[in-house]
Amino acid sequence: MTDAEGPEITFGQIDVDLDVQEILLASSQHDFAKLRRLTRTQSALPDAANVKDPETGYTPLHSAIAACEPETDETETNGATKPPIDPETLKSGVNTVKLLLEEGAIWNDLDNNDETPGCLARRIGATELYDLIVDAGVRAEMLLNRLDGYEELSEDEYDEEDDVKESGAQADDETAPELVEVSAEQAASILATAEAEAAEEANPGVTNARYLDSNLNIQEDKILDSDQNGVMMEWESDIMKKSAVALLPRPGLKVLNIGHGMGIVDGFFQEREPSEHHIIEAHADVVAEMKKRGWDSKPGVTIHEGRWQDILPGLVGEGVTFDAIYYDTFAESYADFRDFFSEQVIGLLEQEGGKWGFFNGMGADRQISYDVYQKVAEMDLFEAGFDVDWEDIPVPKLDGVKRAYWVVDNYRLPLCRFMD
Ligand SMILES: C[S@@+](CC[C@H](N)C(=O)[O-])C[C@H]1O[C@@H](n2cnc3c(N)ncnc32)[C@H](O)[C@@H]1O
Repeated sequence: MTDAEGPEITFGQIDVDLDVQEILLASSQHDFAKLRRLTRTQSALPDAANVKDPETGYTPLHSAIAACEPETDETETNGATKPPIDPETLKSGVNTVKLLLEEGAIWNDLDNNDETPGCLARRIGATELYDLIVDAGVRAEMLLNRLDGYEELSEDEYDEEDDVKESGAQADDETAPELVEVSAEQAASILATAEAEAAEEANPGVTNARYLDSNLNIQEDKILDSDQNGVMMEWESDIMKKSAVALLPRPGLKVLNIGHGMGIVDGFFQEREPSEHHIIEAHADVVAEMKKRGWDSKPGVTIHEGRWQDILPGLVGEGVTFDAIYYDTFAESYADFRDFFSEQVIGLLEQEGGKWGFFNGMGADRQISYDVYQKVAEMDLFEAGFDVDWEDIPVPKLDGVKRAYWVVDNYRLPLCRFMD
């Protein structure tokens, strides 16, 4: 036992840390004063807001939320509606959850039932608590995204500041290292979530570079990568059709599609008779299949072979613009996507009436992640100068694909334009 750890007793196979149990109990009792003392005093456990019950995997957030679940009568018949959450319990739950979040509780830690605190809040119908966790998720993700940018910037700036430091500029000397230190700590705490670990375990190393190097299994109704991850599935047709119709309302417009996949959205774009139809595709197997299927000789089609990151700056440099742009790649990060719309779309989209869309699959393996990413994207789109409208489309249940990337009920189809 280290100095930082509390007393332990063993029940059967489980070591019970009494300090941890005290925090979890105070959380489940919504004992605000005690919880504040346990998380804020000198003697508090380090990272008290993120302790875990060894048996259930509950964190203090899980405990505080679970305690709001109304008792159900065992004798009630199945399907009987649950009693509503008691307003007083909900109110104290809200205060407890707010306190825990202020004290650094991680919004998306998983319990042993594979639920984040937000999943639990949603399951018991505690909408107010769910919204608090979504907002915490948005703040954490925005911070992480900003810190990524800050770190990139700070390295360059820091080199410049070395010169300043030598000339004795005390203020710069002190602020830069401190900010870098905070960013590393914050990033580590946000990244080191059980959810991130679980995702990595389920899809080890699904990165864009690895995907682009892999051999694809291209079938009539799906494309699978060498790890059996679904790259594109036919059920997404409805989404592609709706996107194509919204983006190209009439013939004679210029469209750019990024990521050909099975050519579903490109097929719908062709039906809308664009005057120019540019397609960027990075995977050699997909490009070969496109040519086999005659895409290089379809009306108005120009195929750009390569990654959008390499192709788009050339098009921007030539001053080419489009009435419509669609983005649907594979195994790229949110940071790639944000670079795409904040640095490329601005130069490529027609100012007058130009519209663009994207395949909105971010966080779709869990409702709360989907909700968090919708808000994060909305804020970043706003910052980049775009308005977005969302349309809900029901999603069918998916079986038999390793990367079951749709767990949410509704797909939210985005349509973006320059702000007025
Ligand atoms: C999900 S599929 C697109 C499906 C397409 N919307 C359809 O309707 O069939 C993603 C495609 O993006 C391509 N891709 C992945 N990364 C890319 C990148 N950086 N630049 C261009 N294409 C990329 C993949 O090879 C794949 O063909």
